[in-house]
Amino acid sequence: MAKRQKRFEVLDAREVNQDGFVTEWAEVGLIAMASPSDPKPSVRVQNGVIVEMDGVKREDFDFNDQFIADHAIDASVSEQMMAIPTIEIARKLVDINVSRTEVAKIFSGLTAAKIAGVMDSLNIVEMAMGIQKMRARRTIGNQAHATNLQDNPVLMAADSAEAGFYGFSEIETTVAVFNYGPFNALALLVGGQVGRPGILSQDALEESIELELGMRGLTAYAETVSVYGTEQVFVDGDDTPWSKAFLAGSYASRGIKMRFTSGTGSEVQMAYANGMSMLYLEIRCVMITKGAGVQGLQNGSISCIAVPAGVPGGIRAVLAENLVTTCLDLEVASGNDQTFSHSPIRRTARMMGQFLAGTDFIFSGYSAVPNYDNMFAGSNFDCTDYDDYLVLQRDLKIDGGLRPVSEEDVIKVRNKAAKAMQAVFQQLGLPRITDEEVEAATYAFGSEDMPSRDKVQDTKAAQEMMKRGVTGVDVVVALAKGGFKDVAQSVLDLQKQRVSGDYLHTSAILDQNFNVISAVNDLNDYQGPGTGYRLEGERWKEVQNIRTAITPEDI
Ligand code: 5AD
Ligand code: CA
Repeated sequence: MAKRQKRFEVLDAREVNQDGFVTEWAEVGLIAMASPSDPKPSVRVQNGVIVEMDGVKREDFDFNDQFIADHAIDASVSEQMMAIPTIEIARKLVDINVSRTEVAKIFSGLTAAKIAGVMDSLNIVEMAMGIQKMRARRTIGNQAHATNLQDNPVLMAADSAEAGFYGFSEIETTVAVFNYGPFNALALLVGGQVGRPGILSQDALEESIELELGMRGLTAYAETVSVYGTEQVFVDGDDTPWSKAFLAGSYASRGIKMRFTSGTGSEVQMAYANGMSMLYLEIRCVMITKGAGVQGLQNGSISCIAVPAGVPGGIRAVLAENLVTTCLDLEVASGNDQTFSHSPIRRTARMMGQFLAGTDFIFSGYSAVPNYDNMFAGSNFDCTDYDDYLVLQRDLKIDGGLRPVSEEDVIKVRNKAAKAMQAVFQQLGLPRITDEEVEAATYAFGSEDMPSRDKVQDTKAAQEMMKRGVTGVDVVVALAKGGFKDVAQSVLDLQKQRVSGDYLHTSAILDQNFNVISAVNDLNDYQGPGTGYRLEGERWKEVQNIRTAITPEDI
């Protein structure tokens, strides 16, 4: 072997060199933006109908083209908006004198190829500026994952409580073992409301069961409905934009908050990118979401993040897809979920665009558990990164949605959630949760610190719980009878949202008093210095007050 230069030996051992990188390969879609095969922008409207879009005539439309042309583009303004030069639209995005409303109006008439061109005219700072203005909700938010390798319900309730206490507005779970699904939903419902009244929860499962859990009031939102940029990927999954729209309507009509999921890289991964760039195809997904009438989208590559992250400019394209979502007037839960890099520097840099700009949910899944327990295949940040994240908020005076907590308080909320779960299990006649388990869940780092449970008995009981027809109201009664009146009240208040449906508005979250904060009553009004959301007053004091800061009293 050739004699090694010692610096390169050290560099080779660095974390970043465990990551995978590829050069651009446009023919298979391994290109972030501006593939030579991306269509050129065009539109033609006749009698209120789009008859040509991005160089394709209506008779040659595939079903994605048809859905987008008929439902996602405002044909009455399309020719007018498409006539605005691309660079001018890009400048309006960053121009503080142009309002969010005006930009959204322009985007309502643009085709996917035109939008792709606008994005490619922006550098990454300009993209962040765009998001700062265009995100729907004025107040930012954050979302967390609570899962564990054992599907341990006591630990999951405690972890959900801790996540709520840190300040997440939404929390979601999925399963290690499929039949645990109902218990996991229960753990987030009970634990979540202990940690932070008003937190919304989700259980990512096979759609029919997920829908049923939602209809029973055991979960409050859904974001597992995926859309794709090429027709072949839909066909592979026996789906169409219409079937996805139907599913979305099924959730929303039962009072369950709903958003779609998509992200750059999925079409390449499914080998159906047709040589088009990841961003161009993702813009089509955002448009399909818009066309389906869904209020929001989880994007930012999500589970495909390793694909854009491997190509030049990939992380920039991921910020661009978040920006496009906001420009189409949709709520965005902006990724930063699945792990993609071994390098802490790169993991931090990747989330800076969303963190600095502020999005509706900066992480669409911050791991509130150690990554070894993360059943969504890990997250960009996990519970061991909390203090780093809190310091970043403080250093940069950025509201990232979390607040500093004390060890003492976390012990209290974890313990209360574990006990509430114990009481609910007892009241509902589910397998016993012992005091030893409550104690372990209170002080645990992760599932390795938990005594094991009888999984056969648990999964059987979880299925029986569904057969018996247990609903959110039964959980309210169980909590009240079990001595947790305040938690019972929170779960009841959450059920009321089902009936009023106020939290179905774009970008809705609930505050601690169950007031809806959404793009209706808290519309982002950023238009330069002195406007929009500012981290100040009590909230800024809270963010400053990290537990490791020395005060004059300490000296
Ligand atoms: N495109 C489409 N769907 C995705 N999901 C994750 N990443 C993507 C992507 N890039 C889906 C998962 C799951 C849900 C949480 O999101 O398959 O259904
Ligand atoms: Ca998520």
